[in-house]
Amino acid sequence: MRVVIQDNYEKMSKWAADYIANKIRSHKEDRPFVLGLPTGSSPIGVYQELVRQNQAGELSFANVVTFNMDEYVGLDHDHDQSYWYFMHDNFFNHLVDMKPENINILNGMATDPEAECAAYEEKIASYGGIDLFMGGIGVDGHIAFNEPYTSLNSRTGLRKLTTDTRIVNSRFFGNDPEKVPAMALSVGVGTVCDAKEVMILINGHNKARALAKTVEGDVSHKWTCSALQLHNGAIIACDEEACGELTVDTYKYFLDIERDQRL
Ligand code: GLP
Repeated sequence: MRVVIQDNYEKMSKWAADYIANKIRSHKEDRPFVLGLPTGSSPIGVYQELVRQNQAGELSFANVVTFNMDEYVGLDHDHDQSYWYFMHDNFFNHLVDMKPENINILNGMATDPEAECAAYEEKIASYGGIDLFMGGIGVDGHIAFNEPYTSLNSRTGLRKLTTDTRIVNSRFFGNDPEKVPAMALSVGVGTVCDAKEVMILINGHNKARALAKTVEGDVSHKWTCSALQLHNGAIIACDEEACGELTVDTYKYFLDIERDQRL
């Protein structure tokens, strides 16, 4: 696992965006570059930088296919808290050459959620898998909507959200946890870990415990993020604020090993 510690959120976002852009640019295969994407506040800086590079003609998305991590059940595309809306509002609508048909987001209004999730897995496989899955993390260490005790082998499916997660996410729903959907469709931990590379953004004091559990904790379904320790291409991009609960030797180790390594 790589842990790339940046001074602040802006530098973390720039580093992560440059890493992704570099992967897209250097992708020489006939098949498209397949990029997994998250929602949340953590990736917004990355999206802004990728949009900037795209609009400046430095980065093309013409040969990129995307798969989003998750979607609330019961919110349609027009709902301003649906992840479909978030992704278009914060990212896709601003790209000059992203093909709408290359955007994949789970449909939270699907009448048959299980069929929707099975089809999503099949579609990912039809592209030869995901090249790079970017993710965020919950304060309880969840990746996508894989709450504590979700199997580390889980695949795309229906998830029940914990009260804690609904409280945390209620900031987008008028601070009323009851307004946060109780269910979501989500890729599984196994789906994320099947990607060739996984990059998780971890920033801010409130994620310090999750970062420590991801990097130093035991591999356990209690912290689904810990599955990344078994991945051969896992990168944590984080800021200083999130490092508050790392042991000093871990913190120093990663600063040392990443020194002079630009991407
Ligand atoms: C939600 C999403 C996760 C995301 C998490 C953290 O629960 N399902 O994919 O990582 O929020 O969001 P934020 O980046 O806003 O802290």
